[in-house]
Amino acid sequence: MAIVELTNICKDYQQGKEPVRVLKNVNLTVEKGEYLAIMGPSGSGKTTLMNIIGCLDVPTSGSYTLDGQDLRDLDDDAMADVRNKHLGFVFQSFHLMPRLNALDNVALPLLYGGVSLKERRERAAEALKAVGLEDRMDFFPNQLSGGQCQRVAIARAMVGKPDLLLADEPTGALDTKAGNQIMDIFRQLSNEGMTIIMITHEPGIAACADKTYHILDGELRTDGNLVKMGGGEDEED
Ligand SMILES: Nc1ncnc2c1ncn2[C@@H]1O[C@H](COP(=O)(O)OP(=O)(O)O)[C@@H](O)[C@H]1O
Ligand SMILES: [Mg+2]
Repeated sequence: MAIVELTNICKDYQQGKEPVRVLKNVNLTVEKGEYLAIMGPSGSGKTTLMNIIGCLDVPTSGSYTLDGQDLRDLDDDAMADVRNKHLGFVFQSFHLMPRLNALDNVALPLLYGGVSLKERRERAAEALKAVGLEDRMDFFPNQLSGGQCQRVAIARAMVGKPDLLLADEPTGALDTKAGNQIMDIFRQLSNEGMTIIMITHEPGIAACADKTYHILDGELRTDGNLVKMGGGEDEED
């Protein structure tokens, strides 16, 4: 069953006087349990697409169905509700709260679900354990390495048991070793049945997913390797 269905999604941004089409008739179906990477060069529309899938932005035209629900015409509150109930986010720059320790960073999303403090902390501790940080729960972000911060961010994304994990360049700020640890965690989450959409411009990271789609100038290619990185015309064999 499809969890994400985008049909003819277009996104225009006003740049100066002219609207510029940044996403062009994007069609994308993601089945439950899929682990998908989307690759594309800088400025190709990756974050714009991710923001639409993540209900952080709305398309100019086209339709988006998430887990069977048509998201057209939802107001901001309803969108926030969809995000809280269905989605987990991991960003390149972690977005942790500097004044909260790892445990409270991870527990934070549960605040909006009306879960008791005791249960919030128990579930946060469990999520941190799952990413191997059980001995860092009372550390603050500035006491953690980049890789550890990203693992806290993954625990925070997973603590609400989302249906879909969205990651925008999750290894972009990390060295190779820390990046590989993040990919190990994504692999494990995928093996446990999580649906993952990951954006990256690194081929080695994209190769960790089960399949890779390419976006170039706002056009998503889901039919193999028609679009190559760097825009080269040459056939590879
Ligand atoms: N808020 C905005 N207003 C105007 N143009 C934007 C805005 N956000 C992104 N763009 C433009 O849309 C294009 C795609 O941006 P983006 O999705 O961030 O690309 P990527 O994540 O692939 O680097 C770029 O040309 C960018 O300048
Ligand atoms: Mg981007």
